[in-house]
Amino acid sequence: MITITTNASMLGKNTFGIDVKAAVFGEYNTVEGLRMILTNELIKGRKHQIWNIGQGSNILFSGNYDGIILHGKIKGIDIIDETDTEVTVRVGAGEIWDDVVAWAVGHGFYGAENLSAIPGETGAAAVQNIGAYGAEFGNLVKHVEVLNTETLETETIAQSDCQYGYRDSLFKHQPAKQLYVVTAVVIRLSKAVSFNLEYGNVKAALDGKEITLANVRDAIVDIRACKLPDWTKTGNAGSFFKNPVISKEQFEGIKANYPNIPSYKVAGEDNKVKVPAGWLIENSGLKGFRHGGAQVYEKQCLVLVNADNASPSDIVELSDIVIRTVKEKFDIEISPEVNIL
Ligand code: EPU
Repeated sequence: MITITTNASMLGKNTFGIDVKAAVFGEYNTVEGLRMILTNELIKGRKHQIWNIGQGSNILFSGNYDGIILHGKIKGIDIIDETDTEVTVRVGAGEIWDDVVAWAVGHGFYGAENLSAIPGETGAAAVQNIGAYGAEFGNLVKHVEVLNTETLETETIAQSDCQYGYRDSLFKHQPAKQLYVVTAVVIRLSKAVSFNLEYGNVKAALDGKEITLANVRDAIVDIRACKLPDWTKTGNAGSFFKNPVISKEQFEGIKANYPNIPSYKVAGEDNKVKVPAGWLIENSGLKGFRHGGAQVYEKQCLVLVNADNASPSDIVELSDIVIRTVKEKFDIEISPEVNIL
């Protein structure tokens, strides 16, 4: 089944809770439905204006969208291959990612548990390469199934061609961004016991508890709930900014004044470190800073929230203020992780 609506409200289609209109909004729940939408008179010839969304958990509408918003509801979590040590699972792009994690944990499959409680759908997770607590989605991927919007044929993109990097993939850049709509993701999960508990306070949160898949998932859910706002109550899109990578030299300069500045290693780059943008924002004096209805979240400054009926420009302007203030204070340019439409 497909639906196509013109002048459609985007309220309920983005986790920031922004009430704007899209010129055209289309929904489909099969690949065939997506083909039908792409050949519809309202959409054909305007493919460059298409933005395919998941749960809308990583977008900010900066105003009414004079283009086409598509949303896929293709479902299904199916084991398509199994060995003694791993399972291969095909997941419809429209499955809520956290439901997939719950399913994996329930079946005793390892690898997805650290990515618990991240809002969003599975197709978008493959585009965004979501990550948390030392795990990245791209590392689970075997291949991604897409529909080519030009040929209307399905294609399979191997993990090695997905160009996964920190919150980055092939699908975020042209020409793939316009050419492909993700319809399903095939992931590999381990049947052998293997945990990844090295990041931050994950181990501490499990103190005294048996290390099981369910307990690790619960610990991650609890850590996130303490730090990150629930978008169903306070609109937000998770981390608004990426953690910047800076030179070791610049880092040492900042450390001389701020001995407690946290940092992470950057794989393959000995002379560089990644620093938490949340720390930079907090230490620029912006914790809880408010601009119109938008606010820097008190418990995790990396997150901008819709505190009180924020307009799109409240949030965009707050983002600009944050970027400018951090630049003035630390001479570091941070950039949004959220897609601004
Ligand atoms: N920190 C502060 N002040 C803040 C926020 C953080 O001092 O306001 C410090 C913390 O004390 C800690 C360090 O910065 O020492 C890192 O904080 P945290 O562990 O919360 O992680 P993060 O680097 O701020 C990243 C991801 C999150 C992910 C966490 C855990 C990005 C852009 N964000 O945040 O992802 O949950 O690590 O792995 O990489 C998301 O993408 O939406 C998201 C929430």
